[in-house]
Amino acid sequence: MKKLIWPGSTQLAPVSAVLVGCGRADTYNLITVAWAGTICSKPPMLSISIRPERYSYQLILESGEFTVNLPTVEQIRVTDYCGVVSGRDQDKFKATNLTPLPGSQVEAPLVAECPLGLECKVTQTLELGSHTLFIAEIVAVQVSEKFVNAEGRLELEKAQLTAYVHGHYHALGEAIGHFGYSVRKKPGNIVRK
Ligand SMILES: Cc1cc2nc3c(=O)[nH]c(=O)nc-3n(C[C@H](O)[C@H](O)[C@H](O)COP(=O)(O)O)c2cc1C
Repeated sequence: MKKLIWPGSTQLAPVSAVLVGCGRADTYNLITVAWAGTICSKPPMLSISIRPERYSYQLILESGEFTVNLPTVEQIRVTDYCGVVSGRDQDKFKATNLTPLPGSQVEAPLVAECPLGLECKVTQTLELGSHTLFIAEIVAVQVSEKFVNAEGRLELEKAQLTAYVHGHYHALGEAIGHFGYSVRKKPGNIVRK
């Protein structure tokens, strides 16, 4: 396939556009973040990258805490809203009708409507350029009971999660495999065309 060579840019896709909860009881805020990802398993850690001019930046810097909440198809419009309006101007929980849920280990709010929320404590910050990277340990996970089956397994595939691709929100489609299926010698493990 013939390739065009472009200068380096942020083309990685798909990514998650997540709702990050920050602030304390009187300053609860939400910011949408696409530059987010898991970075370590043990201890469980993730990172988010935030521009210093965001209202949320100062809140996270001051408290050293935030939450990461996964929006479903149902919450994608409010996810966009939280990414275009500033908490300096509006109470985004009120404006979106999202329900703040207290953290078990952090003061930052979770979002009750999201099926999965990660409570995070910042361990390092790194000024990268346009964005500052917040590296954080995931100290607790809150998960909606309805997505946990009788055996205690989280069935997040039933939650209608979303992906963000170069400015567009997508509903995730059908599952097309699972971890390690390519090496399992079972009939039916054939990649669909
Ligand atoms: C889909 C989407 C992804 C975004 N990702 C980021 C991001 O990774 N980092 C960032 O600093 N801002 C990001 N933004 C912009 C902020 O969410 C936006 O500026 C927001 O209004 C800041 O809110 P605040 O001022 O209340 O903190 C994103 C916006 C959208 C819509």
